[in-house]
Amino acid sequence: MPAGEYEFVVVANRLPVDMTVEDDGSLSWERSPGGLVTALAPIMQKNGGAWVGWSGKAGLEHDPFDAEGIHVTPVTLSAQEIADYYEGFSNGTLWPLYHDVIVPPEFHRNWWNAYVAVNRRFAAAAAEAVAPGGTVWVHDYQLQLVPSVLRLLRPDVKIGFFNHIPFPPVEIFAQLPWRRQVVDGLLGADLVGFQRPGDASNFLRAVRRLTDLQVRGPQVTMPGHWSRPDRQVRAQAFPISIDSAAFDELARTPDVIARAKQIRKELGSPEILLLGVDRLDYTKGIRHRLKAFGELLEDGQLRVPEATLVQVASPSRERVEQYQLLRDEVEVTVGRINGDFGTLGRAAVHYMHHSYPATEMAALYLAADVMLVTSLRDGMNLVAKEYVAARSDLGGALVLSEFTGAADELGQALQINPHDIAGTKATIMRAITMDAREGRRRMRSMRRRVMQHDVQRWADDFLGYLAMSVPSERESV
Ligand code: F6P
Repeated sequence: MPAGEYEFVVVANRLPVDMTVEDDGSLSWERSPGGLVTALAPIMQKNGGAWVGWSGKAGLEHDPFDAEGIHVTPVTLSAQEIADYYEGFSNGTLWPLYHDVIVPPEFHRNWWNAYVAVNRRFAAAAAEAVAPGGTVWVHDYQLQLVPSVLRLLRPDVKIGFFNHIPFPPVEIFAQLPWRRQVVDGLLGADLVGFQRPGDASNFLRAVRRLTDLQVRGPQVTMPGHWSRPDRQVRAQAFPISIDSAAFDELARTPDVIARAKQIRKELGSPEILLLGVDRLDYTKGIRHRLKAFGELLEDGQLRVPEATLVQVASPSRERVEQYQLLRDEVEVTVGRINGDFGTLGRAAVHYMHHSYPATEMAALYLAADVMLVTSLRDGMNLVAKEYVAARSDLGGALVLSEFTGAADELGQALQINPHDIAGTKATIMRAITMDAREGRRRMRSMRRRVMQHDVQRWADDFLGYLAMSVPSERESV
């Protein structure tokens, strides 16, 4: 296959820009918010980088274009492929399977076939873009077959893969009818990165159980054939982070500080402001959080209007049935709590089903006394890190589920098992009544971790390890 011209190629389900086709057919784009783009953009601008991804729109065909120094290469998905590959196999099969089967995963052969076809298309686009001996970094569960397809097309390139979500224990992973193909797909990479050490060891256990390959420590040996020598695949944890300095700086701006004060005022100047910020996803434990908060009101441990909960639930995957069911349940529960405990003009729960820009989020974080992160399973949870980065005043308390990747790093958060409603209630009360000195000490320690381990360091670590791996074709030269 002819080589392309880009030394560094990122392959992700989403593009780093949000594309809009105007009425006159012209295209406009805006950089997507988010840490991944922020971390990778400078590397791409420096070395000549391309980004292969889907625009988020059905059937949108567009030639590659340059945006902020990145060569943007859109992959077209038809409406049927979105239904089968994205909503179906990625979010109806893999997402629940990789998140402790909180809802039952569905296994459909037509979804799998679409996943294979779309993964091949992403791999072909990457193979066309990458320069001889270049580096390709593939992201996330939607694209687990890309590494092995790409290796067949371009054995000369270094291939990294990073899984942003958990990797399940083999006992659960083994339910997948195509488990062996997924493992083989990932083993096409030189380096397979995970959020937590536990995810990496789950993957290595799956390799041991489902293949006869040799696994030693973090390395899997892929036997060579013909003149090609053996190849080593390394599986390791690289916990992702946020652009901590940018978030810290944003939360210190006078506008954000003023907005935080205004938010509290608009809410009726409650004594205790609790906050939840999530994509509306069943992995986030929003129902558990609402149950705990509702019971605290029922018990009289908290009262409206002294206490109020702001819940931002940004719309997500709205065509997938389990997300529709969750939305209904959450909204019925919010209505019930407000009906039972709200007073005229003062709601118990302020529920927002939309996304907000980063400035408003930073103001909400600054305004909140207690941040509630109650995920039932979460690869990392960057909201927890954003809250910590926003609190240079050392105020606020973080209640954090032990089932998040962030819990490994934020040992000074008040950790909970969200399934334990009594324990969660007690911990929320502990956060509310915590001595200010203890709160500052905990926040200082968490900030040290988040400020030092930012998304740039994460990308540098991963790419540093990847650079040390030697692709098989060059080994044999
Ligand atoms: O956490 C995994 C992830 O795919 C993120 O990368 C992404 O921001 C989020 O879920 C939302 O996903 P989607 O692309 O399905 O909207």
